[in-house]
Amino acid sequence: MKRILVTGAFGQIGSELVPALQDKFGKENVIAVGNSRIPEDFDGVVEKLNQPDKEGLRGLITKYEIDTVFHLVSLLSATGEKDPSFTWHLNMQSMKDVLDLAVEFKLKVFWPSSIAAFGPTTPRDFTPQRTVLEPTTMYGVTKVAGELLCQYYFNKFGVDVRSVRYPGIISYKALPGGGTTDYAVAIFYDAIEKGEYECFVSEETTLPMMYMDDAVKATIDLMEADPAKLTVRTSYNLAAISFTAEELAAEINKTLPVQVTYKPDHRQNIANSWPKSIDDSQARQDWGWQHEYDLPKMTEIMINELKKKLGK
Ligand code: SER
Repeated sequence: MKRILVTGAFGQIGSELVPALQDKFGKENVIAVGNSRIPEDFDGVVEKLNQPDKEGLRGLITKYEIDTVFHLVSLLSATGEKDPSFTWHLNMQSMKDVLDLAVEFKLKVFWPSSIAAFGPTTPRDFTPQRTVLEPTTMYGVTKVAGELLCQYYFNKFGVDVRSVRYPGIISYKALPGGGTTDYAVAIFYDAIEKGEYECFVSEETTLPMMYMDDAVKATIDLMEADPAKLTVRTSYNLAAISFTAEELAAEINKTLPVQVTYKPDHRQNIANSWPKSIDDSQARQDWGWQHEYDLPKMTEIMINELKKKLGK
């Protein structure tokens, strides 16, 4: 990884992955590609592209002599249901463009899958690496199709494409955009600003989650792993912490009083179709994955950093 291009660079994950890559590989070697959410104070190389745009990407790959792409562009689960056709088009076409360009330019690629690749017929506890993948959201359908494309391009064309199935990611810098796991971020904002939160899933809802620093570390570690050790070319299960919405509220309440009410909406059905916990032993075995942040540590950082950010 010498010249890196990141699509979706200003989304939830990109906003923190890009600075980590800049620190490691140099600011001039990371090209951040965004569309609508480019912050005015962004410090680095930035390009604007409305995806899918294969020729636009080709131009950037040539211009900057790119050798690695982190392709993060995606609509998430809840937003995706508003316009399933566009979700398929954006998520799949932009990804296939990247894989085809990877064949042409011999690029190394990272592409994120998700717990959304699983569905109601998947075992929900300690979900195995290889299991039933019958998702019920279009977002999940694009994740399963994308995983198969990764494996296909690896087998057929030798593209070094790597992927993880992210759980819900919790962070304080950029907001997640339209996911089902967003309540685990929104609760912190409302706890600090209003002292109360109306949660869109029920109190007993359990989903796999992860603090952003762990997600960034996993992403970079996987991309730096010895290719000979990688036994999964669809996407690696990845886990850190699982908790109910009520357990999260209780943890916040230890230091910050928040009155939580539960009013499940359409996102409850999506949450119910996803695993409660994930078996990520293959990632731990193949490339030494280890998470660092547990629920208390993550909660403490979220409260402290968001208080600063919100001036409270
Ligand atoms: N956080 C995502 C979502 O809720 C899951 O990948 O859609």
